[in-house]
Amino acid sequence: MSPEIKASTEKKIKELMSRYPKKQAAILPVLHLVQRELGYISEDGEKWVADLLGINPVKVREVVTFYSMLSRKPLGKYHIQICSNLTCSLMGAESLIDYVSEKLGIKPGETSEDGKFTLTTVECLGACDQAPSMMINTDYYGNMDKKKIDKILKELDK
Ligand code: FES
Repeated sequence: MSPEIKASTEKKIKELMSRYPKKQAAILPVLHLVQRELGYISEDGEKWVADLLGINPVKVREVVTFYSMLSRKPLGKYHIQICSNLTCSLMGAESLIDYVSEKLGIKPGETSEDGKFTLTTVECLGACDQAPSMMINTDYYGNMDKKKIDKILKELDK
């Protein structure tokens, strides 16, 4: 069964693939577009991408499971990713993870029942100078503390 990819997204994907000398090289941006469309990369999505790129589905699975920004499970509307790497940990990331977890009633790796929030811990976001750092979907947030988290979550929960 093929995933429900809109014709407009499929067109975007094909345009994207045409920019690469080998269509297989477009795997990451193609997977990003599929995830944006479906909310995650399903097994059907993996097979669809593999067919499109002319590669074995195992290759697609390898990429999907390697990159933490790609998910094999449906994500909430807001995907909160808190860095738990060294610099952020030294700057208090663990207590922020616990705080968000308690506030939303979900543990890292879980999605709230209303499908609004998914919380995950991730490796270095490349923003160590603003530790502790987090991302919500594609937006970066740095120098995080509980007060900032309260403000952001309040905005998102409207
Ligand atoms: S260690 Fe957290 S952004 Fe680098």
